[in-house]
Amino acid sequence: MISVVILGAGNVATHLFKAFNKTDEVSVIQWYNRNLDTIKPFKNLVEITNDLNALKEADVYILAVSDDVIGELSSKLPFENRLVVHTSGGVGVYELDKKHKRGVLYPLQTFSKNAEIDFANVPICIETIDKKSYPLLKQLARSLGSPTKRVNSDQRRVLHAAAVFVNNFTNQLYRIGHEITESEGAEFDLLKPLILETAKKVQDMSPYMAQTGPAKRNDKKTIKKHVKLLKKQEHKDIYNLLTDSIKQTHGRKKL
Ligand SMILES: NC(=O)c1ccc[n+]([C@@H]2O[C@H](COP(=O)([O-])OP(=O)(O)OC[C@H]3O[C@@H](n4cnc5c(N)ncnc54)[C@H](OP(=O)(O)O)[C@@H]3O)[C@@H](O)[C@H]2O)c1
Repeated sequence: MISVVILGAGNVATHLFKAFNKTDEVSVIQWYNRNLDTIKPFKNLVEITNDLNALKEADVYILAVSDDVIGELSSKLPFENRLVVHTSGGVGVYELDKKHKRGVLYPLQTFSKNAEIDFANVPICIETIDKKSYPLLKQLARSLGSPTKRVNSDQRRVLHAAAVFVNNFTNQLYRIGHEITESEGAEFDLLKPLILETAKKVQDMSPYMAQTGPAKRNDKKTIKKHVKLLKKQEHKDIYNLLTDSIKQTHGRKKL
């Protein structure tokens, strides 16, 4: 049985707690958050604390807190030479205080507290400084049913930047699609099968091969009509930027 202390109570920490709580291989022995109110609803399931000095001895401490506070929080932990990991895509393993054995468990997925998540669909990228810690983190990730991959800090940073493109930026484009359809009373819901098909296609095809549309075809008249109908300058700018990017990729001249 692997004993775990979770620190933080946001999107990732909450999903990790719920998922570990269902396994027989892992015991979450304590849950820390600076604001105790957030974890009070779980106090019948796990010991909760907002006092770093009250942290129990565990095999792994998982810091699922905001990126900017990972280093500082790891320094404040009142012990050393235990395995401390963070869950961030964008923070190096060496940003954890060197008094600890250090590692990373980066779940490459989007987590929102109130959206269900199946850890079978969450690849977990693992990094450790000492070789001995790696099998433990792998076992921890596997207990969730997650696929695992050894990834170093440079690879993780690139994966994280790519995740921003394929998830956050794509979602912002959905948001713009939502805004412009609503402005004319058209139904955003009609676009949902297209959204699904776009994501499905790149499971079997390269994004290069999957591209279609006016920019790839270089349908100049259609492109001009679209730019004209967009009301916000911000939307026109994004349309032009992405159109130019597609043209460059597919060997067309810029607008
Ligand atoms: N969300 C995702 O989709 C996702 C995916 C993969 C990896 N990650 C990584 O997972 C980590 C957590 O992300 P999240 O989305 O779960 O964040 P979140 O929902 O914003 O939660 C952040 C947590 O950090 C705590 N915190 C903030 N400042 C603190 C401080 N100064 N001292 C102690 N605790 C502090 C917050 O405590 P309070 O509750 O008291 O405010 C909260 O529990 C990040 O490193 C992120 O990069 C996130």
